[in-house]
Amino acid sequence: MPRDELFVTRKLWIQDAGYEKTKSAFDKSLERLQLDYLDLYLIHQPFGDYYDSWRAMEELYGQGRVRAIGVSNFAPDRLIDLILHNEVVPAIDQIETNPFCQQVETAELVKQEGVQIESWAPFAEGKNDLFGNEILGSIAAGHSKSIGQVVLRWLIQRGVVAIPKSVHKERIVENFSIWDFELTQAETDSIATLDTGCSLFFSHQDPAMVRSLGTRILDI
Ligand SMILES: NC(=O)c1ccc[n+]([C@@H]2O[C@H](COP(=O)([O-])OP(=O)(O)OC[C@H]3O[C@@H](n4cnc5c(N)ncnc54)[C@H](OP(=O)(O)O)[C@@H]3O)[C@@H](O)[C@H]2O)c1
Repeated sequence: MPRDELFVTRKLWIQDAGYEKTKSAFDKSLERLQLDYLDLYLIHQPFGDYYDSWRAMEELYGQGRVRAIGVSNFAPDRLIDLILHNEVVPAIDQIETNPFCQQVETAELVKQEGVQIESWAPFAEGKNDLFGNEILGSIAAGHSKSIGQVVLRWLIQRGVVAIPKSVHKERIVENFSIWDFELTQAETDSIATLDTGCSLFFSHQDPAMVRSLGTRILDI
């Protein structure tokens, strides 16, 4: 497959925060992937010395070794501060976004900063019985589509980039087939009622979680 038909994203974990560590983690990633550039490189979590990481990433971006740089799991306050004190505005903020955690206010704030939201867990990783949800199921039936397709279409209509994960070829094909239908206002209004206003996984503001993530060593 030609390289320019692939879009490869990597994320920098907390143990590699800092200027020198970021450069060496980036080199290691390219070596492991056997690539000479990345399409997108993200700071995985807003913890540790990520300001120095960002400066290293700005250089890698300037050298053309990565086509775009961004962040993940940054709440608007951390995102705005990073933007104010650096040169390059993150292209992406990859955050949990799905029908049960819709991130409406965050999406608006991130958009105002000129940053694109990208949804992780667009299907909530199946939590809350997403694939058996009655509201999503009835919308899907009305369009002869699957619940997964309705969720992805809803994200796209909101201007949110989605990166659904599947290990099944037929589902990957299904997840791409969302360009031939449109959700109505009434349908998006009824999906809005599913929002719980909080994460299905954990809060990045939870002190115990900050401690746990900050001491976790990943082999990446
Ligand atoms: N930045 C972060 O902190 C962060 C955190 C978590 C995840 N992510 C990223 O987010 C991306 C999305 O993955 P995710 O793990 O969050 O999960 P997800 O996309 O919300 O859900 C994946 C689950 O949905 C199933 N699935 C996929 N398509 C389906 C379909 N059409 N019908 C029925 N089931 C379907 C998959 O099963 P099968 O695979 O068996 O098909 C899998 O169990 C990944 O690239 C991941 O690396 C980022």
